[in-house]
Amino acid sequence: MIQHFDDSIEDSIILKIENLSVYRSGKLVIKDIDMTINRGEFVGLVGPNGSGKSTLLLAILGVLKSQKGSIEIYNQQPMSRKLYGRIGWVSQAAANLPKHVKITVRELVQLGTVNLNNLLSRITEERRIRVDEAIKMVGLEDVQHIDISRLSGGQRQRAVIARALATQAEFILLDEPLVGIDRDSRNDLLKLLDQLCHEKEKTILMVSHDLTAIRQTAHRMIFLEETIQFDGVTEDFPNLTGLADLRGIHAVHDQTHYHGKAHSMEDE
Ligand SMILES: Nc1ncnc2c1ncn2[C@@H]1O[C@H](COP(=O)(O)OP(=O)(O)O)[C@@H](O)[C@H]1O
Ligand SMILES: [Mg+2]
Repeated sequence: MIQHFDDSIEDSIILKIENLSVYRSGKLVIKDIDMTINRGEFVGLVGPNGSGKSTLLLAILGVLKSQKGSIEIYNQQPMSRKLYGRIGWVSQAAANLPKHVKITVRELVQLGTVNLNNLLSRITEERRIRVDEAIKMVGLEDVQHIDISRLSGGQRQRAVIARALATQAEFILLDEPLVGIDRDSRNDLLKLLDQLCHEKEKTILMVSHDLTAIRQTAHRMIFLEETIQFDGVTEDFPNLTGLADLRGIHAVHDQTHYHGKAHSMEDE
């Protein structure tokens, strides 16, 4: 009985990082990272430009290898075959798909259902349903047969998220998905991500510069600047003055400095 109980606790841990340091081109970029993310959490990862947010996501995905410490996703090493299809990745660059590529929303989402086993076979009913559901979840039914180049930035970003959903990924990592999309689309997108956590038990780790937006939605915030400076429930996340303290900036002379920097976090 007790064994079973322990298993179910382990089961709810999606990501476990211990004592992680990552180097890029021989330079230490992030260090001493410890964090655990549980199933169904919506975690906002924030921090100034160049603080290592993208680096951390790339390390979790297993793309960056030069590191110390350990990363486990569903108790597996990053890039393990057992993780295939369980992790979704949405980058800002993904929404800036080249204009000359002619592909409809539906075709793009359908790509999320392609794998090595079904690459050459005809699309099955099961895959068709997955594509339908993903398109419906992001609210793009009306434009599904339209070329992605004709969509707004927000719609394109939702199409890219739908592709990640069609893979049936349980753990979705997003790097700056809100950049370049208008306010209404941004709110829709955040609402959608929140729904995915609550209704579909997805787990989300999202990087954003947009502190205001992410605070409205994320359950938990992590502030990264070389290492984790804050990790806790969103209600406890410090205001801008508190943030300056987190960053070790105390001197009066540095006031303008930190105001400027904190602002750039909100604006970028
Ligand atoms: N390919 C690279 N080689 C060396 N250093 C890099 C490379 N990519 C990024 N960096 C450095 O790593 C640091 C963190 O970058 P990054 O993770 O992109 O930050 P963020 O996403 O928080 O803006 C920065 O100082 C950046 O200059
Ligand atoms: Mg980045």
